Amino acid sequence: MANGKLLLGLDIGSSSAKICLLKEVRGSYEIQLVDSAEFSNDPIVEGSILNGSEITDVIRGLVRSNGIKQKACAIAVSGYNVIVKRVRMPEMSEEELQENLRWEVEQHIPFDYEEVVVDTVILERNQQQKKMEILLVATKKDVVRDYISIVRDAGLEVKIVDTVNFALHNLIEVFYPKETENAVVGVINVGAAMTSMTMIVNGVPSFTRDITIGGNQITEEIQKKFGITREEAEAFKTGKSQSEGVVPADVDDVTKAVVENIVGEIRRSINFFYETTGCDRVDKLFLCGGAVKSPTTRRLFEKSLDAPVELIDLKNLAYSKQCKHDVLEEKGLELTVALGLALRSANE
Ligand SMILES: Nc1ncnc2c1ncn2[C@@H]1O[C@H](COP(=O)(O)OP(=O)(O)OP(=O)(O)O)[C@@H](O)[C@H]1O
Ligand SMILES: [Mg+2]
Repeated sequence: MANGKLLLGLDIGSSSAKICLLKEVRGSYEIQLVDSAEFSNDPIVEGSILNGSEITDVIRGLVRSNGIKQKACAIAVSGYNVIVKRVRMPEMSEEELQENLRWEVEQHIPFDYEEVVVDTVILERNQQQKKMEILLVATKKDVVRDYISIVRDAGLEVKIVDTVNFALHNLIEVFYPKETENAVVGVINVGAAMTSMTMIVNGVPSFTRDITIGGNQITEEIQKKFGITREEAEAFKTGKSQSEGVVPADVDDVTKAVVENIVGEIRRSINFFYETTGCDRVDKLFLCGGAVKSPTTRRLFEKSLDAPVELIDLKNLAYSKQCKHDVLEEKGLELTVALGLALRSANE
């Protein structure tokens, strides 16, 4: 269980902002609050914030409409703004590692040490060979600063900056503990701009990969194929609209083509994961993110990957009376990162 007061989980995705607040009840978690609000003008493109004030306005709207008193929050960065490297190095203590961090960053990360915030995860120690393997996680400082000030302008205070992949690892560890015991599981989040994946070996996040393809690309391809607006394409894609000019089977074909690309990248990443870790199987792949709401997408994942696939289902979790159940029901798959972030506490 968390040590101290739980933070508000705030996931600033490229299509919408999502919030989640948990409460500890008798040794487990209850969802107190979930909500999301969409952006209208693509304020984040390829990881760069183009319109911070739109993001601030949307977050402020969420805070007001939900009457949120809890100002301290955890946010996450991903993709273009985070570099994760698996590094093999001489065995050393946590303190020695911190002392040697600058050298390791200079060897493995293509940014100046002064420009990044660095975090490490020790994956494995081999006392005999006097070696250890770590994950080196570097996030650009200026990006972190921008996010913090956007959130501050909305009246919240950032206490923790996590990564999307580690937030999802946390979620799996807490809500699916039995599944990761002596097992290799993956969690794949297919969002609007990005697909993130983490491989968890015996509970440790051993490998992460961000692929810069997501649901937006499906929308764009539908738009091009049928010569329609983005809003129309989005409505066809999500099955909210049908018309004579656009055949659902053709929409499906476009979806399949893009998702096949994503699945291909995932397959290559899993092979790379096998090569770098010596693992030779995946026991389960958890799926989340708005784009996996499409049955076509889910079927392709099930068919093309060599492991059982399961959707992360927030509906099975305990939630309080005040919690908007319709939001959980409709947006559960999009809210997973916010839920993972809501597990963090202020005194970590
Ligand atoms: N029913 C549906 N069928 C297909 N796609 C859907 C459906 N509902 C939502 N989506 C897609 O899910 C995506 C949004 O998902 P999500 O909220 O997880 O992304 P995000 O967090 O905003 O983006 P990212 O994580 O890439 O920055 C959009 O591309 C949207 O079109
Ligand atoms: Mg997202």
